[in-house]
Amino acid sequence: MSTESALLQAYRGVRPERLPVWFMRQAGRSLPEYKATRAGTAMLDACLTPDLAAEITLQPVRRHGVDAAIFFSDIVVPLKLAGVDVDIVPGRGPVFARPIRDADDLADLVAHDLPDDALAPIEEAVARTIAGLGDTPLIGFAGAPFTLAAYLVEGGPSKDQLRARTLMHADPEAWRTLADYLARISGAFLRAQVRAGASAVQLFDSWAGGLSEADYREHALPASTTAIAAVDGAVPAVHFGTGTALLLGAMRDAGADVIGVDHRVPLDRASEVLGGTTPLQGNIDPALLAAPWPVLERHLEEVVAAGRAAPAHVLNLGHGVPPETDPGVLTRIVEWAHRS
Ligand code: CP3
Repeated sequence: MSTESALLQAYRGVRPERLPVWFMRQAGRSLPEYKATRAGTAMLDACLTPDLAAEITLQPVRRHGVDAAIFFSDIVVPLKLAGVDVDIVPGRGPVFARPIRDADDLADLVAHDLPDDALAPIEEAVARTIAGLGDTPLIGFAGAPFTLAAYLVEGGPSKDQLRARTLMHADPEAWRTLADYLARISGAFLRAQVRAGASAVQLFDSWAGGLSEADYREHALPASTTAIAAVDGAVPAVHFGTGTALLLGAMRDAGADVIGVDHRVPLDRASEVLGGTTPLQGNIDPALLAAPWPVLERHLEEVVAAGRAAPAHVLNLGHGVPPETDPGVLTRIVEWAHRS
């Protein structure tokens, strides 16, 4: 009998007795207890207050009985800790006071170091979370350099990451300086979470699907490889993006142990592309969370059946929980997964 959690077994490629399930963005706006805890506190302040971050991380585990906690934080938190002027605007996302538009902006940005002691609030929050989790594993995470750069160069959220993609071609040297800096920042963030006891990490490259495979391999993969290598194989690494049907192999080449798949690619197809050797995570279509249960259940059956093509499968969404989701649906999915 293994005492390793179902999640970690699956991440190591061993199919556990019960199907592990957690949800990207499970800690957050779909929960009334989250809204109550967060009331009156700005998002980034909540992330940097260890008690609050730990409590919010634990809420979905208590409520839904998911097989993993995901640390409550944000991809821009390590930049904030490095002293970069960034805010998270409700309903919009990360906004930077000084977008990276020229050499001076870039030089100013990369002068913002992130020493390990600046990560103390993160380590404290992770340690408090783990103390409250019992046997449930905690997943740490960071933003991939390309996705972070897409926000930084634009100054905020954008539909098509146009300015970032222009920069990578127009000034590859500046791009590399930016990507290497972000790899160090995200790498340090991951390392701090692992140091404090996270059992796995996930690198979010949410906007990688905006790149061709050639551009991804040349301009995004090297820095993502550096970020993942920061944890030195100490824990399993999941690599996730959306719109990545043509990038799955390249994303694994960044050093990932597990690939997170969005709803656009059936898991059996993803597994075939990956040669049937890589554990997969995903890929419930978030749109179906609002569909009648029998429709959602049929979809769950399809996802789980397709996931059998992979060596192991962790059930999750294809992207984050939409804020308007009825939390009861998430609990019902967990119960269903554990029965199946
Ligand atoms: O998954 C979890 O529950 C853990 C916490 C987590 C958050 N952000 C909390 C959060 C994680 C893993 C993230 C990752 C993140 N942040 C990504 C990658 C994953 C993805 O969803 O694509 C990205 C691109 C961001 C940047 C970001 N931060 C966006 C786009 C937003 C949403 C803005 C909005 O209000 O629509 C945020 C804010 C944010 N991050 C919230 C939460 C709970 C909402 C804050 C609030 O309550 O207002």
